[in-house]
Amino acid sequence: MTIRKATPEAIAEASRILLSGGLVSFPTETVYGLGAVATNTDAVSKIFSIKGRPSINPLIVHVGSADWVSQFAETDDRYEKLARTLWPGPISFVVKLKPDNTISKLVTAGLNTVAVRHPRGAIANELLTTVKTPLAAPSANKSGAVSPTNASHVAESLDGEIDMILDGGNCEVGLESTVLDISSNGPAVILRPGAVTQESLTGIIGPVLQDDASPDLPKSPGQMLSHYAPSLPVRLNALDQEQGEALLGFGSLEGATLNLSPSGNLSEAATNLFRMLRELDSPNKYRAIAVASIPNTGIGIAINDRLKKAARQ
Ligand code: TXA
Ligand code: MG
Repeated sequence: MTIRKATPEAIAEASRILLSGGLVSFPTETVYGLGAVATNTDAVSKIFSIKGRPSINPLIVHVGSADWVSQFAETDDRYEKLARTLWPGPISFVVKLKPDNTISKLVTAGLNTVAVRHPRGAIANELLTTVKTPLAAPSANKSGAVSPTNASHVAESLDGEIDMILDGGNCEVGLESTVLDISSNGPAVILRPGAVTQESLTGIIGPVLQDDASPDLPKSPGQMLSHYAPSLPVRLNALDQEQGEALLGFGSLEGATLNLSPSGNLSEAATNLFRMLRELDSPNKYRAIAVASIPNTGIGIAINDRLKKAARQ
């Protein structure tokens, strides 16, 4: 078993594994990542093969502080302002690479931009400050599947294929980071909604666009590929349970098999979403998962984005 409780000794061991080209899954405040040293092409290539991830879908580079980014990417005033206000936290920024950078080309899928993130989770930060070098880390699941929010989710799909899983319990946010493209001179564009919302970004830098304006031309190369999908069919905006369905409720909905948040709290629903989808994804017990309607405000926008992808809509 490769799961280790994230003690200082385990983090030191994880750091040695990473620096010698291995892969370690570690908790962040959003979901568990599958990390490799971002400058090590051999290590990064293992991420793609283990996940079954298409090579056109670039990875997020995780840093231990905002000033690491200037080693490999352009950092303008808008970046500085956003990073100062929102990091460490659940948002990634797409910025321009510097021409002489040493980040593996596999990480960025050969683009001239890179997504960067300074996570808030204590274990992720201890790991980053111990390895002292940026880590490329997608969510620690097989490509297309639901992201892991605890160590056993990671083990269910990747145990035996990676060198270590650092166990830090359940992730606080439960949904992947907001991805914000600030690589052009025009308005910033949200490529993936997350816990940091359009309203809060607008409050910091003025008008921010949501990428769904042109769904045929996804700016995030992975957007059209990611499904976040359980194996069972998912039916959205359910008011009741049909024959053979599990019902994932929200708020006061009666008769739910599981409820994302009985009190109707959207942050609690986000934290529970992926764990509960996994729990209900049981073809032996159910033929489909019906999900109650979720208010489309605040982090509800990100929840509905993941649910639509889970329902393959
Ligand atoms: O919360 C998170 O972001 C988690 C944790 C582990 O930090 N990571 C994560 O990584 O969700 P992943 O690989 O599952 O999602 C990365 C997303 C993809 O949609 C990818 O297309 C986009 O970021 N992305 C990465 N680099 C990009 C770039 N240069 N331009 C546009 N989109 C990019
Ligand atoms: Mg992912």
